Amino acid sequence: MREQARFGSRGRFATHGARAGSGAVTANKGVLMATVGLIGAGNIGGTVARLAVAAGYEVVLSNRRGPEVLEPLLARLGKQARAATPEEAAQAGDIVVVTVPLHQYRSIPVEPLLGKIVIDTNNYYPGRDGNIPELDSEESTTSELLQAHLSESKVVKGFNNISFWDLGQLARAAGAPDRTTLPIAGDDLEAKRAVTEFFNTIGYDAVDVGPLAEGWRFQRDLPAYVSPYMGTGEVGSPSYRSTPAGKSHVSAALLQAKRYREM
Ligand SMILES: NC(=O)c1ccc[n+]([C@@H]2O[C@H](COP(=O)([O-])OP(=O)(O)OC[C@H]3O[C@@H](n4cnc5c(N)ncnc54)[C@H](OP(=O)(O)O)[C@@H]3O)[C@@H](O)[C@H]2O)c1
Repeated sequence: MREQARFGSRGRFATHGARAGSGAVTANKGVLMATVGLIGAGNIGGTVARLAVAAGYEVVLSNRRGPEVLEPLLARLGKQARAATPEEAAQAGDIVVVTVPLHQYRSIPVEPLLGKIVIDTNNYYPGRDGNIPELDSEESTTSELLQAHLSESKVVKGFNNISFWDLGQLARAAGAPDRTTLPIAGDDLEAKRAVTEFFNTIGYDAVDVGPLAEGWRFQRDLPAYVSPYMGTGEVGSPSYRSTPAGKSHVSAALLQAKRYREM
């Protein structure tokens, strides 16, 4: 079900219904989603894997250098985790997270992701990724590039606007008063429902910003990017505490979004 533009002058964001649960979420007419495939197993991939394992999912991790370098991470994750090639992780995942440096997006395998839900965490940093003209001109967005590459997959932008450190700290049970909200964007409503449910099971609420073309509203350097969740103290120190950010806080930050050319 492709979505037409849903974010407009009303300045409101939709929240899909989400059930509390433990890692066995359903989507696409009740298909059980119990395995998370990860293409990229670095800061964000490793953190999503940890949260997913804690919620009861199986995870299949992959990287560029090969499964053997993932052994320390696998040892921490335990029996629900295994390492594989990107193709195998894509094949195994009921839901697949693409979390590599953006400049690598064209290497993401297409065929094993046909028809699948793909969460795109990627951000554009020209210093790392090189200049990408359609992003510099703001004619497109990072997740639209991935969607064009994976044209038969259902790409949902998510996890891109929170640092891995805060993502690891802020997961809470459904209904907790200090639960944090993360924005998503995507062109397929069923896929967004499934991702909302996935977020719910791993400890987060989701707010739907609209189709992928609206994903710029929580891209790099905008008010909804990283800062709502940042804590006090030195990141990584024992005293550092991430800041929970609920729906109203995150929605207010999203409404302050401006195009880079207007900043
Ligand atoms: N760091 C954050 O807090 C954060 C937060 C939100 C979003 N993001 C975005 O999320 C993405 C990942 O960030 P990160 O910090 O997790 O990166 P990272 O720590 O550098 O990890 C990148 C991972 O991607 C793998 N990789 C690279 N090229 C690949 C390829 N062609 N195929 C398969 N795997 C490949 C790497 O494998 P090797 O180690 O084998 O090279 C590594 O496991 C980036 O786009 C970043 O901007 C990051």
